Amino acid sequence: MATATASAKSNGTKTAGDHKEKTQGKRHTLRWGPEERQRIVASLNELLASYQVHYQKLRNYHWNVTGGDFFDIHVELEQQYTEAQENIDLIAERVRVFRERPLSTFAEYLDRSALQEDPGTPASSKMMQNLLADYVTLVDQMCATVELSTELGDSGTERMVKGFIEQLEKHHWMLSSFTK
Ligand SMILES: [Fe+2]
Repeated sequence: MATATASAKSNGTKTAGDHKEKTQGKRHTLRWGPEERQRIVASLNELLASYQVHYQKLRNYHWNVTGGDFFDIHVELEQQYTEAQENIDLIAERVRVFRERPLSTFAEYLDRSALQEDPGTPASSKMMQNLLADYVTLVDQMCATVELSTELGDSGTERMVKGFIEQLEKHHWMLSSFTK
C-alpha cells in the first residue's frame, strides 16, 4: 500500500518533505550560498598553496642544514613541518566542508602560492631569515582569511585559522630569538 507521501509525489502534490529536500539541495552546504562558498574557498586554497610551499621549505632546510646549529635546527624544523602538515590537512578538509576541491598538485601550489620555493641550500642563518619572512606572509594571508570568515559568519574557518596564527606568531618569536 502506498504511503501518503508517495501518493502525494505520484500525483504531483507538494509535501513538507519535498520543500525541505529542495531547500537543503539548493544550499548545498550548511549555510552558505555559491558566491560566499567561492570566496571562502579561494581564500583557503591560496593559504593552502602557500602553506605547502612553506612546508616543503621546512623539509628542504631540515634535510640540508649544516654547521654548528645542525642539531637544533634539524630537530626544530621537524617539529614545525609536522605541525604544518597537520594544518595543511585541516585547511584542505575545510575546503571539502564547502564541497569544493582543495588544490592538490604541486603545479597548482606553485601557481597560487604567495611564497617562493628555495631551490638552494643557503647557510643556516639565511635559512632562518627566509623562514621568518615566510611566517610574515603566511600570517598576513591568515589574517585576510579570518577577516573574510568573520564577514561571512564562518566561525569554523575563523576559529581554525586563528589557531594557526597563534602557532606561527610563536615560531616567529622563537626563531627571532634564536637568530639574535
Ligand atoms: Fe627527518
